[in-house]
Parts: sequence; structure tokens; C-alpha cells
Amino acid sequence: MDAPAIGIIGAGTLGRALALCLKAHGCNVEVVSSRSAGSAEALAALLEGCRWASSPQEAADGSDVVFITTPDSAIAQVAGQVRWSSRHGVLHCSGAHTLDILQSAAHQGAAIGSFHPYQTFALVSSSEEAVQRFCGAGVAVEGDGWLAGFLENLAGRLGCRVVHVEARDRALYHASAVMSCGHLAALAKVVVDMWREMGVSEEEALPIIAPIMQSTLANIASGGVAASLTGPVVRGDGGTLGRHLDALEERLTDLAPLYRTLARQSLLAIASEPSSAMAEDLAGLLDDP
Ligand SMILES: NC(=O)c1ccc[n+]([C@@H]2O[C@H](COP(=O)([O-])OP(=O)(O)OC[C@H]3O[C@@H](n4cnc5c(N)ncnc54)[C@H](OP(=O)(O)O)[C@@H]3O)[C@@H](O)[C@H]2O)c1
Repeated sequence: MDAPAIGIIGAGTLGRALALCLKAHGCNVEVVSSRSAGSAEALAALLEGCRWASSPQEAADGSDVVFITTPDSAIAQVAGQVRWSSRHGVLHCSGAHTLDILQSAAHQGAAIGSFHPYQTFALVSSSEEAVQRFCGAGVAVEGDGWLAGFLENLAGRLGCRVVHVEARDRALYHASAVMSCGHLAALAKVVVDMWREMGVSEEEALPIIAPIMQSTLANIASGGVAASLTGPVVRGDGGTLGRHLDALEERLTDLAPLYRTLARQSLLAIASEPSSAMAEDLAGLLDDP
């Protein structure tokens, strides 16, 4: 299929960024629908030549390739309420799910697939930002029949790196995405809590915290994980490690187990000889109290 009419069902965070990015790359985003007419109408208004539809069926009737970009919990229900035909390619963008949740469409002759960008689209506010977020991002692609080739081409057009994830690895794959993104933000929350304990607000602390986090991410991307590790574990400094643990146990007890867990991972990443005396001493300090 050369220039299929594309439909988006679910005008939320990803649906919006995907539609903007597809449009910016010259794809034919024809129709958008969503749970609420307001979301669909607002997104369609951003996309020249695109209209909004009042139901998933109307969106499907007006398109060849349909991206279901609802929350994971609604994908099977949306796919199940539409009459599909063999002309359709039907996709979900969930990281955790296999193609099983689209079986109702497959039973009606549609080609089914998934297109999961390993990227966050939170806070995307423009077409340019949407294009940037997709460019260089990994995308897990799966599709049957003609859809497989279509998705590989689409990923290339958007500048994404295609990855293939086995069905049995899907949950692990998605858990890794959450660790890379949501839990990174959770780690930032922990750091902010530590500053609050020192009497500094989040607003005041973020300009101090953000540069070191950004530099570390840049180091990881260019130099790898082991070269980017810093701190007392890497320096073999048991005295400082002990003082950190004492302070956390005394003032932010709930955070001490997380510190220990991450410090153990640092040790595993750098210890070429885990049985060396230094590594054993540090590991001893990191044992649960
Ligand atoms: N957010 C990301 O950065 C990201 C990244 C990669 C993959 N994903 C995947 O993308 C999918 C969507 O996630 P999201 O974060 O974009 O969710 P979201 O921001 O909550 O948006 C979901 C949209 O779906 C609409 N919707 C909900 N139930 C619906 C239904 N029954 N029928 C039609 N539309 C419905 C909502 O509509 P209304 O606004 O009309 O109420 C909402 O706009 C998920 O599979 C997620 O795993 C998201």
C-alpha cells in the first residue's frame, strides 16, 4: 500500500504526537476519533486535511491503517467494537501487549500489528517536538502480511530504530521502558525528597539536580554504563558509603533500601573481581541492617 489513509483512535499523549509526526513526514492522516469528541476535534484541527469522527467505526471506515492509541486497557474493547475488513491494517502502540489483543480484527480478515515507540511523549507541545522525539527512538514493530513491511518502512521514514521483541519478552521489554523513563523520574523524586529534607524546595532544587542528571545521561549514551558510574562504591570508599547509609537510616529511613540496591548494582557493574577484598568490604556494608 503506497499512501494509505491513516486513522488514529485515541487522541491522547501518544495519539497526538504520532499524528503530528506522521503528518510532518507527509503521511496521509485522514481521520481521528477519541472517547470524547472534544479531544478528537482538537487534534484534527492541528492536522491539515484531517477530519474528526464521532466513533471508532467511522474512523475505521475512512482509513486503511488504523492506530489504536487508547490506554492499554481499552485496546481490545475498541478493536472488538469495530467491523473490520481485509483492507485494514490495525495496530496498537502498547509496549506490554502482544498481538493477542487484536485477534477480533484478525478474525475479520484485517492485518494486525503493533508499533511501540521506546520513547516518552509527555509534554510534547508542537509538531517539531513530536518529530524530534520519534527521530532516533527505538520502535518495537510487529505485523502480519503486508503490514510488516509497511511498518518497517514507516519506522525508517520517522527515523526510528526498529527492534523486534519476542512475545515472551514483551512484559520484560516494557518493564525496561518504564525503568528508563517513569522510574528515572521516580529516582528524581527521591533526590528531590533528599533536598526537601535539607530545607530546599523542588523548585529551587531542580536547577541544581537537572544538570548533573543530564550530564550523566549524556555520559551513559556516549561512554557506556560502567564509565559513567561515580560515587564511593566506584572509589572503594567504605567510610563515605557508611556515612551515606547512616544519614539515610537516621533521616529518610524509607530510602535506605533503594540506596543499598542501587549501590549493589554499581558494585556489580564495576567489580571486575567481585571477590576482591575491597569489593567484599563494600558488599558487607551494603548488607541489609
Ligand atoms: N504516553 C507515552 O509517552 C507512550 C509512549 C509509548 C507508548 N504509549 C502507548 O500509547 C497508548 C496510549 O497511551 P497514552 O499515554 O497516549 O494515553 P493517554 O494520554 O491516556 O491517551 C489515551 C487517549 O485514548 C482515549 N480513549 C480512552 N478510552 C477510549 C476508548 N474506549 N475509545 C476511544 N478513545 C479512548 C482518551 O480519550 P479522551 O481524551 O477523548 O477522553 C485519550 O485521549 C498506550 O498503549 C501506551 O502504552 C504511550
